[in-house]
Amino acid sequence: MVALTDEMKETIAKNRVVPMATASKDGIPNVVPMASIRVVGDDTIWIMNNYMVKTLRNLEENPIVALYFYDPESRHCFQVKGTAEIKTSGPDYEMFRDRVRAKSDRFPTRSLVVMKITDVFECMPGKGAGKKVL
Ligand SMILES: Cc1cc2nc3c(=O)[nH]c(=O)nc-3n(C[C@H](O)[C@H](O)[C@H](O)COP(=O)(O)O)c2cc1C
Repeated sequence: MVALTDEMKETIAKNRVVPMATASKDGIPNVVPMASIRVVGDDTIWIMNNYMVKTLRNLEENPIVALYFYDPESRHCFQVKGTAEIKTSGPDYEMFRDRVRAKSDRFPTRSLVVMKITDVFECMPGKGAGKKVL
């Protein structure tokens, strides 16, 4: 099982906007900025679907997600891959919906993307670039 380190969780928390990559079943890539992101436990990331269009369509036909996180201060960069499940109800959805709406009630909070992390890769340049770390 993949377990994010405390250092990785700190880097994730510092990233205010994260690139979220998905692909259609035919392999057409799509990347968008996401701000409503939260780490839950050691192997899960929640992302709020406020305005997803192609992203949501892609997840419905091909539930694979990739994100990367970069902290220029500590010079940490890692890429996270995983599988997504979409929730439109239930305690997890409601908890994150309330948290996102507390920031602004204009967010539509349509659904919760639950990303189970399957792999983590190094993305700083150099000798370790591209290596699987978890
Ligand atoms: C700074 C920034 C943060 C964003 N955060 C989110 C977010 O947390 N959730 C969301 O659904 N859309 C967010 N968006 C909108 C998406 O990036 C994007 O516009 C939307 O998913 C539609 O693109 P798509 O058709 O490729 O999915 C954000 C956009 C910007 C510019």
